[in-house]
Amino acid sequence: MNRLIIENLSAGYGAVSVLHQVSIEVSEGEFVALLGTNGNGKSTLLNCIMGFIKPTSGRIVLEHDGRTLDLTAMPPHEIVRRGLSMVPEGRRLVPSLSVEDNLKLAGSNPVVRDRLNENLAYCYRTFPLLLERKTQLAGTMSGGQQQLLAIARSLMTVPKIVVVDEPSVGLAPIVVSQVIEAIQTLQRESNLTILMAEQSFLQTIDVASRAYILAHGRIARHFDSNAGTIDQEEIRRALLGAG
Ligand SMILES: Nc1ncnc2c1ncn2[C@@H]1O[C@H](COP(=O)(O)OP(=O)(O)OP(=O)(O)O)[C@@H](O)[C@H]1O
Ligand SMILES: [Mg+2]
Repeated sequence: MNRLIIENLSAGYGAVSVLHQVSIEVSEGEFVALLGTNGNGKSTLLNCIMGFIKPTSGRIVLEHDGRTLDLTAMPPHEIVRRGLSMVPEGRRLVPSLSVEDNLKLAGSNPVVRDRLNENLAYCYRTFPLLLERKTQLAGTMSGGQQQLLAIARSLMTVPKIVVVDEPSVGLAPIVVSQVIEAIQTLQRESNLTILMAEQSFLQTIDVASRAYILAHGRIARHFDSNAGTIDQEEIRRALLGAG
């Protein structure tokens, strides 16, 4: 059983503090949403988890079968080795490379390089559309297809926990729903754990079991669907009030 625990995390950029004492938890198999409007610190938090930003205080730990592993001071490649992976904001594909070469680039990470073909097959089984389009240049695919490729790319390191940063950006509402459904299918069928930052809260709370609201760098609210359905109006008010 894995559990990602973020405890009293504070972080920022130079003299600018962005996150203040953030504490959240994500247990194995969960789909947890991190909701917040622009500039409230969602990406900063996900980048801290992946080791791209070093927090000024607090801890990020991974509990694994009763043992605790501190990720706070680890470089990103060590964090990836521990089973975490990220779908970054804005997808960050290489537009001039084919679908397959984008996947191979992610799969060339030393941690997983020796299983490149197996991992490629896993991505193609998960997203058959990418197999059909494996020679197409990533930059010529539709926004929704590019987002699926960005998700597939994160699978090339065979993660257990995937952090997804605003997959809906720039997509039409119907495509947003398709992409979020694809992430949900992945979470269920591959037993992945998902922490997803989003502003499109209506589609997100449909699939998430819990949601945290990040406002001005603090966790303002926590919603748990196990304690009843997550009320849309309450979330809307919390988000807008949090502005
Ligand atoms: N590299 C940086 N240098 C300085 N300030 C930054 C940097 N990156 C982000 N910030 C600031 O940190 C704050 C939080 O930004 P962050 O990107 O984490 O928000 P977000 O919730 O992901 O927003 P969005 O929904 O627009 O992606 C913002 O005020 C932003 O301007
Ligand atoms: Mg962001």
